[in-house]
Amino acid sequence: MEDLRDERGATVPFPPGETRFSLTRTRRFAEEPLPMLLEAYERFGPIFTLRLFHGNVVFMLGPEANHYITVSHASNFLWRESHFRDLIGLMGDGLLTIDGEFHRRSRLIMLPAFHREHILASAETIVEETGRALDQLAPGQTVDLYAWTRHLALRVAMRALFGLDPDGPQARAIDAAGLFEEALAFYASDYFLRVLRGPFTPWARLQAAARKLDTLIYSEISHRRATGQRGSDILSLLLDAHDEDGNALSDLQIRDEVMTLLFAGHDTTTSTVSFMFYELARNPHIAARLRAEQDALFPGALPTAAQLASGELTELELVLDETLRKYPPAWVGPRRSIRPFEFQGHTVPGRAFVNYCSWASHHLPDVYEKPEEFRPERFAPEARAALPKGAYVPFGGGSRTCIGMRFGQLEVRTIATLILSRFSLSLPHDFQLSIRQMPTISPKAGLPMLVSPRATAPVADLSAAA
Ligand code: HEM
Repeated sequence: MEDLRDERGATVPFPPGETRFSLTRTRRFAEEPLPMLLEAYERFGPIFTLRLFHGNVVFMLGPEANHYITVSHASNFLWRESHFRDLIGLMGDGLLTIDGEFHRRSRLIMLPAFHREHILASAETIVEETGRALDQLAPGQTVDLYAWTRHLALRVAMRALFGLDPDGPQARAIDAAGLFEEALAFYASDYFLRVLRGPFTPWARLQAAARKLDTLIYSEISHRRATGQRGSDILSLLLDAHDEDGNALSDLQIRDEVMTLLFAGHDTTTSTVSFMFYELARNPHIAARLRAEQDALFPGALPTAAQLASGELTELELVLDETLRKYPPAWVGPRRSIRPFEFQGHTVPGRAFVNYCSWASHHLPDVYEKPEEFRPERFAPEARAALPKGAYVPFGGGSRTCIGMRFGQLEVRTIATLILSRFSLSLPHDFQLSIRQMPTISPKAGLPMLVSPRATAPVADLSAAA
């Protein structure tokens, strides 16, 4: 209701678009936002309004729009009052959901945990967990690569980020992966059910799952406080951190940051690995190039953590960049404007819902030729340098740029390298990808993949087939 009052109180017009109420449009947006946004871009240009459910939502697409929202005019937008504000129910006041001075201070506290040397220290855990997960795969089997990676990524996040033992009695009793799945099912529920509160609603289920995850996090916090036990993980850093006034963080503040990082730190990497192997299965000549690169650079061995962290596998780097272009997991940057503003000749009222969208921006044919094609060479150094500022934003930009970017990239590179060194993964011939988009994009019905031993044919032969 308050949202509608804000909309009616607008002092300047909304940008042009489709502003009449339409259930069909609302449902279609929930099902397939990408074609809808691209059609609207064709008709109205880089800024337009769509009425979704009962409210106007402004979308701003393309390089200038991304730069405007994330960098040059970032202070005119709030995350906390955006369309994703329901995530506060899961994450509380963690880095993702806060703004302004509070955000700036929290980021300063967290940044040291994401410095290079800290991230390198996580590589060993990533390698160990991936090796363990790969031991569970056998040639001839069909694996849901999405579920497999999700489980793996959550174990990595628990160990590397928080020093939590996923095999400890508490964690085993709690099934954190299952609980996250339950909590995030809120976003897979019907658009109209999501606004309901009260018992038996998707919201109530999200809250119940969050409370169970809390038990795990709070008990680890009190164990660490009681024993003084510390490690190189982020939880240790948060327990000893002080804000600019010298105050230690409360248990609640720490819980919120931990929950945010557990969520943001596993969901996005899971989708990236899944979409990468989906494309590699459709483009076996590219998979062969990646294996050839591994063999040439590290014959008979695996790259070290430092080599993985510095992106020495350049072909893999191109594939990772192109995967994140075509399928940026955090596909929409939700915001709310503070004051009215003008962009490219159109006004936007204050307190309007305004989104930038990497997924649609990465599919504009005037920026990326034949955007539907998977072409890693788009990111070869010269081509990349020619991209306009703000054209490629899988990790957002400005003061809210993904804090876990290096960690996420290292994790995806490591998992991909280890999978490629041991197995070939292919898709069942009748598989059709459909994408679920809330809150991050992922394969809707999982990703069934057939596991075969790593192809033994000489790599030169395979690449010649390309
Ligand atoms: C491939 C992996 C990842 C992708 C594509 C990704 C993408 C993004 C994007 C686009 C944003 C900005 C959203 C906005 O502008 O509204 C963001 C923010 C964030 N990400 Fe990631 N992310 C990834 C991995 C991670 C990991 C591994 C962590 C934690 C370890 C993480 C933690 C965060 C946090 C805390 C924020 C909020 C930052 C802030 O507002 O200051 N992300 N991420």
